Amino acid sequence: MTRRRLIIDCDPGTDDAIALWLAFASPEVEVALVTVAGGNAGLESTLRNARAVVALAGQSVPVVAGADRPLLGTFQAEVKVHGTDGLAGVRLPEGLPACPGQAADAIRDLLRAAAPASVTLVGIAAATNLALALATEPALADRVDEIVLMTGALGEGNWTPGAEFNAAMDPEALAILLATGRPTTLATLDLTAQALVTPARAAALRARGGGHCLTACCDIMDAVPPSRRLGHLGHALHDPCAVAWIVAPDLFTTRAVAVQVECGTGPGRGRTHIDRWGRSGAAASARLLETIDANGFFALLGDRMAALR
Ligand code: BDR
Ligand code: CA
Repeated sequence: MTRRRLIIDCDPGTDDAIALWLAFASPEVEVALVTVAGGNAGLESTLRNARAVVALAGQSVPVVAGADRPLLGTFQAEVKVHGTDGLAGVRLPEGLPACPGQAADAIRDLLRAAAPASVTLVGIAAATNLALALATEPALADRVDEIVLMTGALGEGNWTPGAEFNAAMDPEALAILLATGRPTTLATLDLTAQALVTPARAAALRARGGGHCLTACCDIMDAVPPSRRLGHLGHALHDPCAVAWIVAPDLFTTRAVAVQVECGTGPGRGRTHIDRWGRSGAAASARLLETIDANGFFALLGDRMAALR
């Protein structure tokens, strides 16, 4: 099996941590680089968390710090879901130091040394780091086989009424990625709402036993509050859906769509306009993940997490 090489750009972040562990536990992929942005918490916390998540899984992949704020506008953290520490109060042992340098430089260095269409960019934070890398050396986009993003919403947002958090935090960066012309796949809030962590699913996962990562994963699931938006039935496991698409695409149904992101300063800032029916007349520019087999997804997560240390 050829393993796909991933760059994961993240802001851990409770669900980012689980997405990283799912990737580390999946033989279909090799995580070549982890880059970190401020987002769910400030950059100091998200970087500390990324280092700890990598170390808990016994990995030595380079972790590089990136943007502590969006291209434009001001930084805001998502403390209601992820707490002020970014991991909803779940303490992990300290990881190894971060690699020196800047995320965008590290992304460009890795892409420069790669063959055409041989690296997958996985964006599970505001798109700032990935956009900075590709905007400053656009020719490197040809090294990318796919850009997989947890971002956007067809329906209601989770940050503003119309906008999802990652898209709302840096809509200009998202617009830069959408304009690269590389195959782009979107896991939106409408998709991730189907990957609902219910008390029963969290308990079933914990009952599998397993190592430090599975225990920490379950502690995180128990610590995240149920979502008001989702009727308090549980919380959506957003970012792992992006990784699951790469390692188990059969779990999904998809549709080609045209996408635009609002970059104005009004109340619609960060809103993604996703045209499922060709109403805009614009050519399809992305693949929308429409449905996920939720039971299959949690079975995959359990199998993979149970194999981690
Ligand atoms: C996205 O925003 C963050 O809070 C999560 O980590 C996820 O990437 C969901 O809107
Ligand atoms: Ca995230």
